[in-house]
Amino acid sequence: MPLTIGKHSVAHPLIQGGMGVRISAAKLAGAVAKNGGIGLIATAGLVLNSECREGNTYFEGDLLALKEELRKAYEIAPDGVIGTNCMVAVTNYDDVVRASCEGGAKILVTGAGLPLNLPGLTVDYPDVALVPIVSSVRAAELIARKWHKSYNRLPDAVVVEDPDTAGGHLGEKMENIGTGDYDQYATVRGVKEYFRETWQLDIPIIAAGGVWDRADLEYALASGADAVQMASRFVCTEECDADDAFKQAYLDCAQEDIGLIMSPAGLPGRAIKGNIEQIRAFDVDNNRSCASGCLKKCSYRKDKERFCIVHALDRAQRGDRETGLIFQV
Ligand SMILES: Cc1cc2nc3c(=O)[nH]c(=O)nc-3n(C[C@H](O)[C@H](O)[C@H](O)COP(=O)(O)O)c2cc1C
Repeated sequence: MPLTIGKHSVAHPLIQGGMGVRISAAKLAGAVAKNGGIGLIATAGLVLNSECREGNTYFEGDLLALKEELRKAYEIAPDGVIGTNCMVAVTNYDDVVRASCEGGAKILVTGAGLPLNLPGLTVDYPDVALVPIVSSVRAAELIARKWHKSYNRLPDAVVVEDPDTAGGHLGEKMENIGTGDYDQYATVRGVKEYFRETWQLDIPIIAAGGVWDRADLEYALASGADAVQMASRFVCTEECDADDAFKQAYLDCAQEDIGLIMSPAGLPGRAIKGNIEQIRAFDVDNNRSCASGCLKKCSYRKDKERFCIVHALDRAQRGDRETGLIFQV
């Protein structure tokens, strides 16, 4: 069953979710795109573990690394649909969005905050499809109203991410996660209905969180989604850009090893949580200060509270299971 988002179509109703700090970079996104899905390069922290760090500031290198990953992904899938995942919470969000367009991303999937100014940043690239990530109908409404009023544009699709099952940063307050109150597919249907009724628009609504196999995909489609976004499921593939030790941590972990942590970005996150004290100690005991200023708001940079998340994720990506933070489903 094909999926069309804006001007771009793929054979399968599947987006590979962006996984920051080089868990989904060129190799994974290229492979997914080559096989008929949409492949996303996560833009957060790409400069780390990259040759583009040499001789450049964090932010200069980050944009170079992003364009380099897009180039490599298109080498793998020259005709594929390759996009980027951009986090509103990062300091260089505006630049990352522009660099994604310049580097040839066909789709921008944006979350970790409301992407209210996104159409303004991509105005010179009208064919680039814009896809916000939300966890509620209300967030979809806020984005649609703002985009329509300020830019005369509406989303080309919406990803509805379930805070009870998704990995990584979550768009819901800690106390509201795991209460059993959240209904993933009621939200998917609610967002679909909102665009149909208010804007007479039939755009793909994409369910994210906890989709693992064909049966989950079929359930999502039967429950009102037009497609799914899957992330964790791709981690243990050959093509995933993480070190094998990161993949092995996924294979070794049990349900009870996974839990919620509070990120210094002020958002809850789902991760393997057994080593959270070691992660904190790595930064606090060594009195490390913030090296890059990568997040707009960061409690570690401000008050040395919690830990430096981008470097904790980078250590995990390189295979450090002791002091690395492993985001999980
Ligand atoms: C290791 C990891 C890193 C992630 N990094 C990001 C990210 O940088 N930006 C983002 O919007 N979502 C991120 N996510 C969320 C995924 O893109 C996806 O929406 C979510 O994990 C879907 O649930 P699933 O993992 O159950 O398939 C991450 C998830 C994981 C597991």
